[in-house]
Amino acid sequence: MKLVSAVIKPFKLDDVREALSDIGIQGVTVTEVKGFGRQKGHTELYRGAEYVVDFLPKVKIEVAIDDDMLEQVIEAISKTANTGKIGDGKIFVTSLEQVIRIRTGETGPDAL
Ligand SMILES: Nc1ncnc2c1ncn2[C@@H]1O[C@H](COP(=O)(O)OP(=O)(O)OP(=O)(O)O)[C@@H](O)[C@H]1O
Ligand SMILES: [Mg+2]
Repeated sequence: MKLVSAVIKPFKLDDVREALSDIGIQGVTVTEVKGFGRQKGHTELYRGAEYVVDFLPKVKIEVAIDDDMLEQVIEAISKTANTGKIGDGKIFVTSLEQVIRIRTGETGPDAL
């Protein structure tokens, strides 16, 4: 299993959520975060306002998936979250050791 964490522009969240449910993703965790990338200290547009601060508001999406979904998930997120402008975000992939579905006690891919 894999844990895919994507940091994206907040206004892209709805589109990404829809793209993920279109490919059959059953669960997603979303967190409001702040961060910076390579343009640290430079301005970036957010909802029409120019930010000159170091940290910009972003949204982090976490999706736990079986290995065979990885390419589809990466494609869905990168296509949908891409504006072609700086700050579009990044996708981080890590190995996921175990998942437990609390109500049923199912484990592994069955629990996703
Ligand atoms: N190396 C990193 N480690 C952890 N988080 C990162 C890293 N790079 C980017 N992020 C997160 O992703 C957000 C968006 O990054 P961003 O898209 O600006 O990256 P970038 O490398 O500067 O690319 P671009 O040149 O397209 O802006 C950041 O605000 C931060 O939250
Ligand atoms: Mg950047």
